[in-house]
Amino acid sequence: MNFSDSEIVASVMTTQEYEVSQKAELADVIFLNTCSIRDHAEQRVLNRLRELQHLRKKNPRLVIGVLGCMAERLKSTLLEDDKLGMRIDMVVGPDAYRELPQLLLDVESGQKAINVLLSADETYADIAPVRYTEGGVSAFISIMRGCENFCAYCVVPFTRGKERSRDPRTIVNETRQLLEAGYREVTLLGQNVNSYAWRNSQSETHTGFSALLEKVALTDPGLRVRFATSHPKDISDELIDVMARHTNICPSIHLPVQSGSSSVLERMNRKYSREDYLERIRAIRRAIPDCAISTDIIAGFCGETDEEHQETLSLMNEVGYDFAFMFKYSERPGTLAAKKYADDVPEDVKTRRLDDIIKLQQALSLKSNRRDVGKSFEVLVEGPSKRSPEVVMGRTPHNKVVVFPDKGYQAGDYVNVRINDCSSATLKGES
Ligand code: 5AD
Ligand code: SF4
Repeated sequence: MNFSDSEIVASVMTTQEYEVSQKAELADVIFLNTCSIRDHAEQRVLNRLRELQHLRKKNPRLVIGVLGCMAERLKSTLLEDDKLGMRIDMVVGPDAYRELPQLLLDVESGQKAINVLLSADETYADIAPVRYTEGGVSAFISIMRGCENFCAYCVVPFTRGKERSRDPRTIVNETRQLLEAGYREVTLLGQNVNSYAWRNSQSETHTGFSALLEKVALTDPGLRVRFATSHPKDISDELIDVMARHTNICPSIHLPVQSGSSSVLERMNRKYSREDYLERIRAIRRAIPDCAISTDIIAGFCGETDEEHQETLSLMNEVGYDFAFMFKYSERPGTLAAKKYADDVPEDVKTRRLDDIIKLQQALSLKSNRRDVGKSFEVLVEGPSKRSPEVVMGRTPHNKVVVFPDKGYQAGDYVNVRINDCSSATLKGES
């Protein structure tokens, strides 16, 4: 989401005679688009901001700005040089990027600048993002902003504000423009794409996520379509049906479970139980038997017992995830959990539980990859592999990375690849 937002920032700035610099050392303005999801993310941003300060010596006019969720969460405290131990010139929240040029003028006139107003309707729908991956293969399209789910651990509803969806016509137009520019894959992005809802006041029609996904898939059969992220409580049969009917919608779904224990899920305010979640997995597998399923898991949420942790491990085994993002619980100020529950799982227990989860996922990923050995997949080539110029890298429809010998392929080519080996992270094959 931040990557996609940064493309909007680049677009706002380049219409104002600024240009994107490839190196921080050469820039007159440096924006850090920040994440508040865990304390660790914020600490990394603060470290990076500290590192950047030395550039002021060479360029006294340098402007350093903090954008995104940390700007929204910490507001003017980021402008207090003494407390922070460094100077930040601008603080701009995720709904105020149109104001960036004006805020920069304020900074140039010697003031610090801040805009952290959240909006009920800003979607940046009319702004054509400047793609950082020029000549790329795969692009993000933001279809909605904000979140109103208020999962107990999560800061996003506070930093990104109310849910609002973008006009589907602007989404389809952006898809067409990407196709014309040579892109072959789009990922529709939202904090919870299943809440996408657009009401056309003239025609009195309503577009939900399944209808939007279908519209995007129909723009071109050669375009791969993905989406992220889905909330398990909202994933409908209709959506699963649209995925099953269109071969260019990738058979891959990211369905964050967070925990395998119904009691933890209740404390997390996720609004589904373990059984509800497993029922949705069965519905996906019935309609799309080979669908790849990935997830997010939090270890050591408030009050998590050893039995509850074991339930997460058993659910992981039951689903057999292909891939997972795994985190230690990090208490975020102002969230429901911070107000209601003690962050009472000791750090060493959190670490041990996260370790269990990571080890199990590595085994599950390896198992999933081994099942693919001997099969052939249509791979979308992304470019040379990092390790060797004679090898290219691409992805299967299931979003697995494949490396195979280059026979003069270009980024954007579809190549049929037979898998002959694998690790837990990568498939290896031959075309
Ligand atoms: N601590 C740890 N992980 C978190 N996530 C969100 N908030 C927190 C938190 N406070 C994780 C969830 C979410 C992913 C984007 O980040 O798993 O799905
Ligand atoms: Fe956070 Fe829950 Fe919203 Fe995801 S759905 S952004 S975890 S509040």
